[in-house]
Amino acid sequence: MASDGSLYGDPRLYELAFSYRDIAAEVDVLEAWCQRRQGGKRPRRVLELAAGPAAHAIEFARRATPAMALDSSPAMCAYAARRAKEQGVDLDVVQADMIRFRIPRRRFDLVLAMLDSAGHLLDLDTMVEHLRSVAAHLAPGGLYVIELSHPADFMGDAPKTQNRWRLTRDGTRVDVNFTSPPRSFDPVTQVSMSRISVRVTERGSARVVRDHIALRRWTATELDAAARLAGTLGVVERHGCFDVDAPFGAGDPSEWRMISVLERAPG
Ligand SMILES: C[S@@+](CC[C@H](N)C(=O)[O-])C[C@H]1O[C@@H](n2cnc3c(N)ncnc32)[C@H](O)[C@@H]1O
Repeated sequence: MASDGSLYGDPRLYELAFSYRDIAAEVDVLEAWCQRRQGGKRPRRVLELAAGPAAHAIEFARRATPAMALDSSPAMCAYAARRAKEQGVDLDVVQADMIRFRIPRRRFDLVLAMLDSAGHLLDLDTMVEHLRSVAAHLAPGGLYVIELSHPADFMGDAPKTQNRWRLTRDGTRVDVNFTSPPRSFDPVTQVSMSRISVRVTERGSARVVRDHIALRRWTATELDAAARLAGTLGVVERHGCFDVDAPFGAGDPSEWRMISVLERAPG
């Protein structure tokens, strides 16, 4: 059975479809970047934006770092809160728009937007407004880590990312097909209408969920410019994968993502 549905409206399915990541290993690297920039200290408080199931925020909470997850989807927020409870960790969950948000009396040492979530910011004005909101919630010297697709995925002739994969967990199998065909990419706005289909096989029956997701494809120089326009934030490191010293832009074989580390000016 096939249905046009909302993948973000089905958090369990979303979580399974993107569970190829080693979340604990990614959090190790996020902590190492913080320690490198913040005098060896681990972050005291973490905010995950567009958090979905909030796997990274939950991992920080498991490590006794107070963590908050923010997402605009009520279904994702409810799911993140439930996952945290099931895993016995404290997690604050806020339903809000990451473009402009206000969390009273909270400053974070580390803010995250993982897995192309910032691709939901579709134009420069929106990105700048978003960065100003983030900067207002960062402690001086705090970091904002943005993980996005590698620009070669939409500008080069050799994409870095695999677009089909299969995962199985607890008897449920998902076959995921995530494509951004060249004709779905608008070269003027740099927005692509990506297509995702997830074939779910469980308890002997199969169904297919299909969705379309509009994602802005950001380049490194655009992000640098957006940070300058936002003020108080600057890009201080950029990496091609979740490895503490992974290079970006050097053609290293390990490079397949664009992970930018922005820092709020100290003081
Ligand atoms: C690709 S998922 C990423 C989820 C999570 N960051 C991860 O690593 O798995 C994108 C998430 O962004 C959320 N989202 C999209 N636009 C948003 C907005 N303007 N403000 C807050 N959340 C948003 C969606 O509800 C969805 O949960």
